[in-house]
Amino acid sequence: MSPRHPLIDPLYTEFAWLYDERFGADGIGGPDVGFYTRLALEARGPVVELAVGTGRVALPIVRSGVPVLGLDLSPSMLAIARRKAVEEGIGPELGLAAADMRTFALAQPAALITIPARAFLHNLTMDDQMATLASCRAALEPGGRLALNVFNPNLEMIAHWMKLPADQRKQPGDLIPDTLESRDYDPAEQRVDTRIRMKARGGKSVVAIRLRWVYRFEMEHLLSRSGFEVEALYGNFDGQAFELTSTEMVWVARAV
Ligand SMILES: C[S@@+](CC[C@H](N)C(=O)[O-])C[C@H]1O[C@@H](n2cnc3c(N)ncnc32)[C@H](O)[C@@H]1O
Repeated sequence: MSPRHPLIDPLYTEFAWLYDERFGADGIGGPDVGFYTRLALEARGPVVELAVGTGRVALPIVRSGVPVLGLDLSPSMLAIARRKAVEEGIGPELGLAAADMRTFALAQPAALITIPARAFLHNLTMDDQMATLASCRAALEPGGRLALNVFNPNLEMIAHWMKLPADQRKQPGDLIPDTLESRDYDPAEQRVDTRIRMKARGGKSVVAIRLRWVYRFEMEHLLSRSGFEVEALYGNFDGQAFELTSTEMVWVARAV
């Protein structure tokens, strides 16, 4: 086993307070709240969100009447989710706890586990990816669902980007166009390291976000090796079929 990356990106610790301001409105990868809420309403049993963050998705699901257990590695993100729940008068319907998606275990099997907002890509090694999926499989009841979304790597764009001089590296549709400091793609490692400028108290800081992308059939193999059967692969949150030009991969798999 390769060593596990021990540190969580500072975006989720010292800059957690900026997360909702930057990413709260539209989600990451598209407007996803309706999609995950529909799955939660269909679940006949406990619903768990991994990497729940500030509760951006979990809180609307709880508001729709479905209790959620949200797990996250970052105490700072969990603290924001907790504060928002208290402000809304939400009680134990939203459970929040510190846990690593690679090693979590549940007291009661889940009917649905979700990993919204591309958080699965924080698994930076194959061991981490497999550990996360094994933990999900062990935590789900038979036939239970796992739903997650990740971006669809655009090889043409990555190749183009890598040839551009640094000062021209802006992407149409980039989530963070005004604050992008740099972005490095490493196709051999399937790694993208993005640095963004954040206004910090008393100045500015540059914060790195590290992701490891996955390809469509790689994800299918990972799921299959981990005891899942793919139920659907969508190209967006409206249920459109996935195709080459889709920017997102939205996966729904069943524990078999
Ligand atoms: C992009 S945010 C997503 C937050 C939330 N799900 C949303 O949709 O807005 C990614 C989250 O993943 C969490 N995270 C990263 N690695 C993790 C791990 N190994 N286990 C649990 N949470 C993790 C971070 O703390 C952060 O809150």
